[in-house]
Amino acid sequence: MSLKISVIGLGYLGATHAVVMAQLGHEVIGVEPNVERLDSLRAGKLPFYEPGLQESLTDAVASGRLRFTDRHNEISAAADLHFICVGTPQLTGSQAADTRHLYSAISDLATVIQDGAVVAGKSTVPVGTAADLRAELLNKSGKKVELVWNPEFLREGHALQDSLTPDRIVVGISPETKDLGPEMVLRAAYSAQIAAQIPFLVTDLATSELVKVAANAFLATKISFINAVAEMAELTGADAGQLAEAIGFDERIGSKFLRNGIGFGGGCLPKDIHAFEAKASEIGAKGIASLLQAVDSINLERRARVIDLAKLALGELTGKRIVVLGAAFKAETDDIRESPALEVALALKSAGATVLVHDPMALDAVRLKHPGLETKDDLLEALAGAELAILATEWSLYRNLDPVAASSVVAVKNLIDGRNYLDAEKWQSAGWSVFGLGRGA
Ligand code: UGA
Repeated sequence: MSLKISVIGLGYLGATHAVVMAQLGHEVIGVEPNVERLDSLRAGKLPFYEPGLQESLTDAVASGRLRFTDRHNEISAAADLHFICVGTPQLTGSQAADTRHLYSAISDLATVIQDGAVVAGKSTVPVGTAADLRAELLNKSGKKVELVWNPEFLREGHALQDSLTPDRIVVGISPETKDLGPEMVLRAAYSAQIAAQIPFLVTDLATSELVKVAANAFLATKISFINAVAEMAELTGADAGQLAEAIGFDERIGSKFLRNGIGFGGGCLPKDIHAFEAKASEIGAKGIASLLQAVDSINLERRARVIDLAKLALGELTGKRIVVLGAAFKAETDDIRESPALEVALALKSAGATVLVHDPMALDAVRLKHPGLETKDDLLEALAGAELAILATEWSLYRNLDPVAASSVVAVKNLIDGRNYLDAEKWQSAGWSVFGLGRGA
């Protein structure tokens, strides 16, 4: 069954969701107040890099099932379902999430929403927010409408695949909801996934909110666990990469998210564990609050370890030429939010080094946000004259780089592999000194 859907907020999550809903046959209108972003989408151009999504956007617009607006009153035309996808960034000067955009989206929607419509929140929120927003929507609209929570689990770099074939769909519904109407509307929206046997779980609102933050917190904990063990490996001469492979064969542990290196970043994991910790501290859930504090500090310590390794390689950093390979927070995205790679580059610059950053996708964002950082588009030009190269993002072009070709342009053959991504032996055979994380010196 095809629905009339609005998607409010067309950032990373919203734009992907709007495209996918249209691809699944629904009639979709996307609402975005940011003029630049809206103009780009209206021109059929995705405002960020995400593999495969540009093609899907082009197809969805051509099908006539996807259009964009900045005006809430345009979405009233009897939409069955409104997805709220606005951002919930970290508040300045606090660990907590900023939910202001959500409240204003609900206020705007309350003025145009029609009887019988369902609102599904997808943004990541502190537990308790959905119940509050539901009360706000019912009061302000005075209509017979419902609000449910439907967290999103997509990863950047895999957004399309994760949206079309998610591991599960979770829908939180208030116990005060009188009938099965809202659940049926969500089932219709995701009928293709349900037909493909993807689990569809109905919970209460609080559980659905916590499922999302707990999932991200668990992933962050896995990464910090292996990074903490990596420190132990460094001190004992063990190899954290081999160790992760060995423990990963135990299905109860699993091999995913056990890659040690310079730690996690991005627009989600860091801010979500901060907000989770803030909420847990606020309500007195001491156990999870202190666990997440440890996860966060282990994560930041790994960046400091790279600076120590740079000093080990170069001695004094002042005036030394260092090239940082990678700026995006991970490969297959141009997103530099909370990027460990950039944090390392900025810390080296503060320590007096002459830093140059290379990335195949994220350099426009770097130039906009950090105009003081030197950048180069061409990889060999970026390496020219370097006394140390640091692999900070696992882009495949770095793995495909020939160490012999790199040798001919650098000043000194020093390499720190911050992601344990390169073939160390190959680089060593070409005469490079290779420093890894999670390996004995
Ligand atoms: C994360 C979650 O994986 C998604 O399920 C979730 O929907 C999303 O946040 C969100 O809340 O919107 P994403 O931020 O795209 O997705 O990135 P991840 O693939 O989780 O990677 C996060 C960071 O961890 C990256 O910096 C990555 O390099 C690092 N990482 C990942 C490691 O250091 N080691 C690993 O083994 C895996």
